[in-house]
Amino acid sequence: MDTTPYFRVAVSAAINSGRMLENSLNIPPEVTYKGEVNIVTNFDTKAQEMIYREISEAYPCHDFLAEEGLSENKGSEFRWVIDPIDGTTNYAHRFPVFCVSIALEYKHKIILGVIYDPMRKEMFTAQSGSGAFLNKKRIHVSSVKKLNESLLSTGFPYDIRESEDNNIDYFVGFLTTAQAVRRTGSAAIDICYVASGRFDGFWEIKLSPWDVAAASLILKEAGGSISDFKGSEYDIFGHETLATNGCIHDQMIDVLNHSAAKKDR
Ligand code: IPD
Ligand code: CA
Ligand code: CA
Repeated sequence: MDTTPYFRVAVSAAINSGRMLENSLNIPPEVTYKGEVNIVTNFDTKAQEMIYREISEAYPCHDFLAEEGLSENKGSEFRWVIDPIDGTTNYAHRFPVFCVSIALEYKHKIILGVIYDPMRKEMFTAQSGSGAFLNKKRIHVSSVKKLNESLLSTGFPYDIRESEDNNIDYFVGFLTTAQAVRRTGSAAIDICYVASGRFDGFWEIKLSPWDVAAASLILKEAGGSISDFKGSEYDIFGHETLATNGCIHDQMIDVLNHSAAKKDR
């Protein structure tokens, strides 16, 4: 399938909403609480409206799934999966690490992914079978082979205060087995950084489909591996995300399983 027309619309929507987010960064946001530490701002909603308007004007019959309460099912074979701001907590604090994430599924398979970081003017893209790109230059995962020499990234779920399934054991496991561990606050950026070789691996639990839809394709097209913590086939609706350069995938699975075993004792 020629995905070029869809791709052009996705890139344009990401740039337009990203520009709005960049220009609004110093305006104090209106913050609403979805949970104790899970917030949404008026700029999440505004960005989502901008993206939805632009894409639905071009493709009025397509389905949509987006974080801020948008789920439109018209029975289309195409569905857009959108996170208007991945990194909302960062955005609300003017910590300049966030992005817009837009993916398109056809018959439940992701066929394109566009992730735009407006602060760095970095556009990560992929179309199924055509490779992954950063600002139109081909990207590839790193070739680091040892976990001990790897730079990893992770994030923590919003129910960290209420649930024991909160990633802290896994985090401790990697602190002493990897070279270092970072936490950016944007899962989509984390996975794009694995795709471009800046990180060697990333893991997280309880992510949502809009966090990972575009990034998972970008990673695969950059030569990386993505699975659950047992190495089984990845599902964007699943509980676990392990995204690596491929070389350290099994080593990360070992640490995850070892930490899980300790947790069960
Ligand atoms: C969050 C970010 C964060 C991750 C959270 C996500 P949001 O998305 O990706 O890095 O740790 O699990 O929910 O709420 O900023 O769109
Ligand atoms: Ca998100
Ligand atoms: Ca979001």
